[in-house]
Amino acid sequence: MEEDGVVRMIDQRKLPHVFEIFESRSYLDTAWAIKEMVVRGAGAIGATAAFAVAQAALSINSNDFDEFVAKLEEAANVVRNTRPTAVNLFHAVDRVLSAARRCDNAEDAKVRVFEEARRIADEDVEACRKIGEYGSEFIEDGDVVLTHCNAGALAFVDFGTALAPIRIAHYSGKKVVVFVDETRPRLQGARLTAWELKMEGIEHYVIADNAAGYFMKKGVIKKVIVGADRIAANGDVANKIGTYKLALAAKANGIPFYVAAPTSTFDLNCPSGDKIPIEERQEDEVLYVWGVTDEGKWVRVRIVPKDCKARNPAFDVTPNELVSAIITEKGVFYPPFSDSIMKMFSKRC
Ligand code: MRU
Repeated sequence: MEEDGVVRMIDQRKLPHVFEIFESRSYLDTAWAIKEMVVRGAGAIGATAAFAVAQAALSINSNDFDEFVAKLEEAANVVRNTRPTAVNLFHAVDRVLSAARRCDNAEDAKVRVFEEARRIADEDVEACRKIGEYGSEFIEDGDVVLTHCNAGALAFVDFGTALAPIRIAHYSGKKVVVFVDETRPRLQGARLTAWELKMEGIEHYVIADNAAGYFMKKGVIKKVIVGADRIAANGDVANKIGTYKLALAAKANGIPFYVAAPTSTFDLNCPSGDKIPIEERQEDEVLYVWGVTDEGKWVRVRIVPKDCKARNPAFDVTPNELVSAIITEKGVFYPPFSDSIMKMFSKRC
């Protein structure tokens, strides 16, 4: 978001076929863009949510500061009600609201909220780079790494988390091959991760979600690196649906399973993963697929018999005992996670 109050984001619904910038001129439109996944990915929706509240602040005409704050809180609730799982969104909204509450007049608060939103966006980029540096130590020359969904630059303000160690390893001259889970139903792997890796010239193969176990058992996949949408205080990890199954297969095959996430993805209010709210999205995402013909025409086709129903949980929880390490911008945590997570957050206070 610039001073003009317009939030600009890559329209991720259209990638990889069309690169288009979506411009949102109001906090309601920005909240809609989060809900409809114009923008997606934990860090990206966190920063976008912060800018949505900044847009709301700009639009409130009130000289009474209490009234201004009350209206801002109302708008913040609209933003909170977009997507429930990625905790970055809630942390970001709370941060910008606190910045407003620290002021004593609306004009000052408008400036402070915008500054705080910018800070959140900048910190996100910095955290991703650090994660890349720490995480690249785990990647050896010649590794084949599996990733799921998209925890790349598109899922954050820049650079990404799961893809950050791969990027740094690649820049430093290591040969890395990435196996990209297609990630049904919204195909963030096939559409977005493949697009990012292609742009970077990193060798990759998109695989059907069901193929990962086969390649692990064959000894082809050496490591798994995924992102996270929320990490509980005990190290349980909520990430894109299908992650849990990958972690089980990795454990069964003796393959390290790494989670890369900034500390803004931790939720100490969730003692364990069963307290993490899991978004269930509309069944149409499972019943139909979208794509573009060779002639460039968008088509949506039904792949399930008419009148059949579908269930569509967007995330699952991987229990901490299946996680080899959590790579953050503050360093790498190893099991047992509870103590190291508590220590890291108490140091921050
Ligand atoms: O539903 P999405 O696309 O917003 O889901 C988020 C994700 O892309 C993944 O779960 C990702 O691995 C973690 S977010 C960086």
